[in-house]
Amino acid sequence: MSVATNHHTSTAGAPEFRGDMMPAAARHSRPALVDASIVADAEPFSHIVGASPAIREAIALAQQVAESPLTTVLLEGETGTGKELFARGIHRAGTSSEPFVAINCAAIPGNLLESELFGHERGAFTGATDSKPGLLEHAHTGTLFLDEVNQLPLDLQSKLLRVLEDRTFRRVGGAHEIRLCCRVIAGSNAPLEIAVSAGRFRSDLFFRLNVFRIELSPLRMRPMDIVPIAEQFLHEVAVRRGAPTKVLDENAKALLRQHSWPGNAREVRNVMERASILAGGEIITQAHLKLQHRELIPFGDAENVAGMIAIPTRGKSLEEIEREAIRHTMILTAGNLSAAARILGISRPTLARKMRDGGITRRSLLASS
Ligand SMILES: Nc1ncnc2c1ncn2[C@@H]1O[C@H](COP(=O)(O)OP(=O)(O)OP(=O)(O)O)[C@@H](O)[C@H]1O
Ligand SMILES: [Mg+2]
Repeated sequence: MSVATNHHTSTAGAPEFRGDMMPAAARHSRPALVDASIVADAEPFSHIVGASPAIREAIALAQQVAESPLTTVLLEGETGTGKELFARGIHRAGTSSEPFVAINCAAIPGNLLESELFGHERGAFTGATDSKPGLLEHAHTGTLFLDEVNQLPLDLQSKLLRVLEDRTFRRVGGAHEIRLCCRVIAGSNAPLEIAVSAGRFRSDLFFRLNVFRIELSPLRMRPMDIVPIAEQFLHEVAVRRGAPTKVLDENAKALLRQHSWPGNAREVRNVMERASILAGGEIITQAHLKLQHRELIPFGDAENVAGMIAIPTRGKSLEEIEREAIRHTMILTAGNLSAAARILGISRPTLARKMRDGGITRRSLLASS
């Protein structure tokens, strides 16, 4: 078994391992992971940097839910937005002396995932020569972080729902009911609603998880957080090397604020690591920043898009959807009526009429672009 003790947990000292990192041979002989001598972290969210209203609201929600240890939490956000950081914060705010167990549902084949989560009894299936506790038992009264829950196979989704509802489960091939004592935090890097509408995710499990959802906005939606996060990473690099913290000049800061950061904070971390090496002196300039100009991959869509039309759960009229499609296309073409009409597959006069009827003016487009 691999017991990870990185900087996130070392402050609180909570034992931890990742289910998806364990070598197969070691999975059958996990030592006890509980260290009851450690108390809860007094400032579990202090290392989350950001002053934007979006991040402050996410931290406030996380602080509130941390006080209800049995509430299941859903953390939604693009890659690198800090889902694991928040999961650990919620864990540390409460039962930090208990294990934090993280498992990536996408990294383990469906047939192994069930016994990994619930454990199994001897003889439950070919090759089950020993009985083995699952991660739900290993988390004890700590936290199980089910990352990429949107990738959980459908049959396991119904089992997970039952566990969350009844707070009991059985090992594979087992007859005894075991109480679920840990908190479950689910992570998803795509909105679960999309998986629900595509029939890939059970709506009842979605509603169960959605009871306490914390949405983590991408960095491009909270540009005021970019430079403080970059500075925090520069500080961490400096501490690691025992060197003075390097400083970003104003042009470098401006460039960072303009970038779209498809990899979010993780990408900032990598760019700062590299810049600290490249900068000989103490000042980091634009020349030291290597920004990948990839196309933006928005949350929940594998294709590149310029905008999205959100359909709320109460639905939306076709007229409204059409109005939004026109608005997006006009913004995309920088107000070029002919180009927008071509993309929408209608004539220029028809587009002009629809804009008039829908009250879409150039002034309103400018205001929203
Ligand atoms: N607001 C923040 N302040 C400081 N560090 C942050 C912040 N957000 C993310 N990070 C850091 O960025 C990195 C990526 O964060 P994390 O692993 O939590 O993202 P994630 O949402 O779980 O990504 P993925 O979906 O790819 O697993 C980590 O090193 C984390 O500590
Ligand atoms: Mg993660």
